[in-house]
Amino acid sequence: MSEKRKIGIIGSGLIGQSWAMLFTSAGYNVVLYDVEQAQVKAAYNNIKIELEKLEKNGILRGKIGAKEQFNLIKGVTTLEEVVKDAILIQECIPEIITLKQELLNHIDKIVGPQTIISSSTSTFLPSDLSGKIQHRNQLIVAHPVNPPYFVPLVEIVPSEWTESWMIKKTREIMEEIGQSPVVLTREVPGFALNRIQYAILNECWHLVKDGILNVKDIDTVMSEGLGMRYAFLGPLETTHLNAEGFENYVQRYSNSMYSVCQHFKPPPKFEGATVKEIAEQLNAMTPLENLQKRRMWRDQSLTKLSQLKRNNNY
Ligand SMILES: NC(=O)c1ccc[n+]([C@@H]2O[C@H](COP(=O)([O-])OP(=O)(O)OC[C@H]3O[C@@H](n4cnc5c(N)ncnc54)[C@H](O)[C@@H]3O)[C@@H](O)[C@H]2O)c1
Repeated sequence: MSEKRKIGIIGSGLIGQSWAMLFTSAGYNVVLYDVEQAQVKAAYNNIKIELEKLEKNGILRGKIGAKEQFNLIKGVTTLEEVVKDAILIQECIPEIITLKQELLNHIDKIVGPQTIISSSTSTFLPSDLSGKIQHRNQLIVAHPVNPPYFVPLVEIVPSEWTESWMIKKTREIMEEIGQSPVVLTREVPGFALNRIQYAILNECWHLVKDGILNVKDIDTVMSEGLGMRYAFLGPLETTHLNAEGFENYVQRYSNSMYSVCQHFKPPPKFEGATVKEIAEQLNAMTPLENLQKRRMWRDQSLTKLSQLKRNNNY
């Protein structure tokens, strides 16, 4: 197996399976490992079904067929087999720092100097993960967004000691597999996506708690309002277009923006009666037993949106 084309995936749950499908879509050889052997087998079967379904529906990514993509995946039983000669290993185990550190300690003992150690973590800073390992200069975060096959953003977050060539190479690989990477210049809690997402969630919480809007209507503000634009333009370009450029936008609106923001409340702890209130309203909209059905609808909608975006270049 060529060193330049081997990717190791550690943890074959939801995110590990998505990464495997993304890497094989670009022709990478993928080696899949999980601490639970049965999980590797389940993931393997699931990926086969998913790839066939995607091909049948005409939405398989990449230039090679489903069968050829599937044949690039190999399940293994030891970490050594994942790490050996890989250009990049993608860690996808549960979001528990001690678990990830323990795994990284093991990887540290067997990894060569040319392998990028990439973590899918949503919340841990790369320096917290890599602080105590010898190969800390090889660790980087590549944070996907669920579902990664349909939502292309990947946040690449280096620590202050990550090798610069590895940052560049990680970005190149993410672009090669058709994702849309952004590279943070330094690590910050929440990276970029969750900082923005949490700012939105904070405000949604307060609007429900203060009885201004119910849950359904708040979600409508995003799905039928801001979100319509944000799928194509970010919030900054949106302002640029909503006036005669950003400077003009600021001249026109900075006072009113600042004045509204004076009414913002401190971040909530997301506890107490409002949790129950929001959960009850959400359960009425989408009962828990229908979550899987609704996720399928979400993925189908995202597929259609990504097709539209692909054919909609300006
Ligand atoms: N699910 C999401 O929406 C999402 C989005 C972005 C990032 N992430 C991040 O991706 C990572 C994985 O999330 P997930 O949702 O796929 O989790 P998951 O629970 O679906 O899968 C984790 C897998 O890791 C395996 N595992 C546990 N310990 C292991 C070990 N020591 N070595 C090898 N395998 C081990 C488990 O058996 C399981 O199959 C987490 O860090 C998570 O924060 C998740």
